[in-house]
Amino acid sequence: MGLVQAAVMAECGHKVTCVDINEQRINNLKQGIVDIYEPGLSPVIINEQKKGHLTFATDGTLAIKDQDAIFIAVGTPESATGQADMRAVYAVAKEIGQKMTQPAAVIIKSTVPLKTAEKVKAVIQEQLSERGEDIAFDVISNPEFLKEGSALSDCRKPDRIIVGTDKDSSRELMLELYAPFNRNHDKIIFMDNVSAELTKYAANCMLATKISFMNEMANIADLCGADIEDVRRGIGSDPRIGYHFIYPGCGYGGSCFPKDTIALLSCANELGYDAEMLKSVRSVNAKQKEKLGNAVIDQFGDNLQGQTFALWGIAFKPNTDDIREAPSLEILKLLLAAGADVKVFDPQALDNLKKEQLDTDTSGKIHYCECAYQATENATALILCTEWKEFWAPEWDTLKQNLKTPMIFDGRNLFDPVDMAELGFVYRGIGRRN
Ligand code: UDX
Repeated sequence: MGLVQAAVMAECGHKVTCVDINEQRINNLKQGIVDIYEPGLSPVIINEQKKGHLTFATDGTLAIKDQDAIFIAVGTPESATGQADMRAVYAVAKEIGQKMTQPAAVIIKSTVPLKTAEKVKAVIQEQLSERGEDIAFDVISNPEFLKEGSALSDCRKPDRIIVGTDKDSSRELMLELYAPFNRNHDKIIFMDNVSAELTKYAANCMLATKISFMNEMANIADLCGADIEDVRRGIGSDPRIGYHFIYPGCGYGGSCFPKDTIALLSCANELGYDAEMLKSVRSVNAKQKEKLGNAVIDQFGDNLQGQTFALWGIAFKPNTDDIREAPSLEILKLLLAAGADVKVFDPQALDNLKKEQLDTDTSGKIHYCECAYQATENATALILCTEWKEFWAPEWDTLKQNLKTPMIFDGRNLFDPVDMAELGFVYRGIGRRN
């Protein structure tokens, strides 16, 4: 997120210095090598460095000293207790307090728990006091809403720019900083810090809620013989509901929804509130991630020794190599625990899967394939977890020849059950009338 934000800020002429403590990553970036798969990002990094708008360093001083705006865009991963792990944010805040040389705005881009801005202010102030310095600064909450896989375009054309601050001078600075993104329509929404912090959590939790709600409807559809695709179109046509984020599937994954739903739950708990809906969103999702694997077991029994399954799509969604909390991992674990071999294919995420600790014996049981069809050769059935474009219109004859049973478990409802039956496949979607 930080890298994309920096790239896009640099593109419109701001001078940006990016700092990370990971030396290898910074050295790569200096050569234009980006260690995540994000479409279009690498050329921007190369161009903006050539133009002198973007520089990379491991020394924090360079991104703090003499700067007007200092963005904090470090990770806030889920800790063992579910709260956001804030160590990186406070370490950066401390360094800012130790090294700032002129009045500056400290802008929190990371997704952070409620009242973090207050705490960051206190950390910086403490350091300044220790130095005996009286330098004016403000902490602005400015959460980011980009999506992986379309991060550049989301960042270049944000739906809204949330700015949490009480200071007029900070509002002016943010108007100037975001002017290139705020032409034609005023997208900046000003509010106080804690409202901005809650806006970010509320947005992600609302989206996760929509998905879990739809997954619940799909499960009911399965039981009563309704078709969730008809239901989706039927409710999406109501503009109050809308078509976005009501696609049922094998569960949501990624770095944001899982961690932000539990982080907001923890914040609510600390405030003495039991956020029951958030708990349900999470438990529906946890069960949904097991659904496809369980469907395989229902079909073929719980001893899958000697059977091989094809798994298409490991990334938590298309156009990324990110496999954090991906539904594919749950399905993989379930199949392996039942003794199956699994032939996996993903256009970008296989290297990350190779590095993943799956908490189950995987020795020789996962077979990494070079193409989608190789994964289906002599497989008992095909399981689809991620809707990469290249899976949308497969060569059906090749699939049928390759698979031992012409059976598809579709975790993203890519195909139509009637078409599938006509093509001679046994098809299991999510909430589809089979
Ligand atoms: C999300 C938010 O969308 C973004 O605004 C925020 O800044 C970061 O978190 P991201 O995690 O990149 O972005 O992915 P997103 O496109 O939101 O998808 C998250 C998960 O939900 C994926 O696993 C996806 O497959 C699933 N999903 C999405 C559904 O199951 N159904 C849908 O209708 C939409």
